Amino acid sequence: MSIAVLASGTGSILSAMIDEKLPVAVVLVDRPCGAEEIATRSGIALERVVRNSFGPSFERDRYTEDVVRALAPHEVSLVAMAGFGTVLGRDIHRAYPGRILNTHPALLPAFKGWHAVEAALAAGVEETGCTVHVATLEVDDGPILAQEAVPVIPGDTASSLHERIKAVERRIYPSAVAEMLAGVRGEKPPSAKLREEDL
Ligand code: GRF
Repeated sequence: MSIAVLASGTGSILSAMIDEKLPVAVVLVDRPCGAEEIATRSGIALERVVRNSFGPSFERDRYTEDVVRALAPHEVSLVAMAGFGTVLGRDIHRAYPGRILNTHPALLPAFKGWHAVEAALAAGVEETGCTVHVATLEVDDGPILAQEAVPVIPGDTASSLHERIKAVERRIYPSAVAEMLAGVRGEKPPSAKLREEDL
């Protein structure tokens, strides 16, 4: 029983998952990024499904089909998005119903979207945080598995705040994934219920 990690960034959360001995069978990236090197260095299979368009011509459904096809031979039970920069379409939710997880650097439902840390700073909140949740077709939505607050410190920049949030993500995401895997194995009851229409 193994997992796929989808990443587009430095891959520090992927690293934490590997350190926690999660059974990562494959890392899939949508662009050249640090996560590729981490996968290679750790001897983990790497799939590159490079996204060629970031504009209106992007064919989300076709791209999603390519991702599902690339993951299929690895026969994973769970897909963990860890800083993956592409919103995927319905096909992946059909392929792994209720088994796609995501981590988001804010206390959902607050500050959805790609610029969550900047948005929290701009809003002047005293605390933000991170959320691990089951991914659904709605972006940054779906049953919450774990959440932890992180205080905003005077003088914080988006980058200093994001680093402190990521330190928490590196702790709570691997343990939420391990718990979900135990649920899939039947060792524990699933901690989140999904509605059919979310998939
Ligand atoms: C995390 O904060 C994640 O929530 C966000 O991107 C960051 C990924 O960091 N979507 P890294 O690439 O694992 O270091």
